[in-house]
Amino acid sequence: MNTNIYVVYGGKSVEHDVSLLSAFSVINALDKNKYNVYPVYITKDGTWCDIGKLQNQVKEIKQLKTKSSNTASFSLGEFLSKHFRKNEKNIVFPVLHGTNGEDGTIQGLFEMLNIPYVGNGVLSSAVGIDKVVMKDLFSLGKIPQAKYTSIRLYSWKTSEDQTYNQIEDTIGYPCFVKPAKLGSSVGINRCENRGKLKEAIKEAFLYDSKIIIEEELIGREMQIAVIGNDCPKASVVGEYIQERQFMDYAAKYVDGELVPVIPARLSTEISETMREVAIQTFKLLNCCGLVRVDYFVTDENKFYVNEVNTLPGFTAYSMFPALWEKTDGTTYSELIEKLIKLGFCMHKQKNSLLHMRWEK
Ligand SMILES: Nc1ncnc2c1ncn2[C@@H]1O[C@H](COP(=O)(O)OP(=O)(O)O)[C@@H](O)[C@H]1O
Ligand SMILES: [Mg+2]
Repeated sequence: MNTNIYVVYGGKSVEHDVSLLSAFSVINALDKNKYNVYPVYITKDGTWCDIGKLQNQVKEIKQLKTKSSNTASFSLGEFLSKHFRKNEKNIVFPVLHGTNGEDGTIQGLFEMLNIPYVGNGVLSSAVGIDKVVMKDLFSLGKIPQAKYTSIRLYSWKTSEDQTYNQIEDTIGYPCFVKPAKLGSSVGINRCENRGKLKEAIKEAFLYDSKIIIEEELIGREMQIAVIGNDCPKASVVGEYIQERQFMDYAAKYVDGELVPVIPARLSTEISETMREVAIQTFKLLNCCGLVRVDYFVTDENKFYVNEVNTLPGFTAYSMFPALWEKTDGTTYSELIEKLIKLGFCMHKQKNSLLHMRWEK
């Protein structure tokens, strides 16, 4: 019997469109002789749309959004009661970036339903999306990183000047202001003075009630792709060559300005240490399936972890699959296959645990 695979994408997230790009590649890479592929589109307002079983390859992204006459929009309840029959082999592949997908919310739903799914669980997803909690954990695990501080909306509203003074004393300029829980560089600004800082903080608070301010790190931006469950493996290091001061949304998705170089131009010594730190980070954050660890590397060859992505960009041209291709020749389709296997293994492992007290 073929496995049913439900590829869930879109979602109530600022990274909705990026998710569509990733889903397009994932869906086309799945072997249709082996899997019954069901694309499941979540609209920007959170409606779940059942596109139906896919018969052919998808030619254009808009097909993943089109609702044909026999394709209805479902409430979540209707959708779930229609699918996931217990006597069939099912797995969900959430190809969702950012809020309501990469943050543990949807993973919690799958856990409650006891459905196998690809990638990180509730805890690592929730920690990975929150830059403040993530960085607090990095501090505990002695992962090298930039100096940072965080502010909550309430304290900024009640003591604005004190907040600016505190940032200037602890972090100084230039600094980066970011909402705690977004991705794709949305709401992120570099500030060189108090005027810019005020504007940046105001903007970041539009997206989140908690924000983070970091010292600027000057260096090349590098990434490592980690896959596995109990024995994670790290890819070689890759880097992006770019002209801009920072990788904003346009640089990442619009201008096609980023040129990947794999392996990155680094000594073996530093790249091996970075790979060890990537594994350490994976374990520290309780990851499973996959994670992408992002770094800054200075001209003096000092490296700092910037962040993790628990569901990194996954188009056929994304860094994550490209890193594995260069590491051991794993193709895009093979990588997807490995992630599906890891998802089933994790599910089996969780289901082998006791849910009541063991009578000795
Ligand atoms: N502390 C920093 N120093 C220098 N550049 C930074 C810093 N933090 C972020 N940036 C720039 O902003 C980009 C986006 O920030 P990041 O923390 O990775 O957020 P996102 O989750 O949106 O990818 C980074 O890729 C980098 O170009
Ligand atoms: Mg980033």
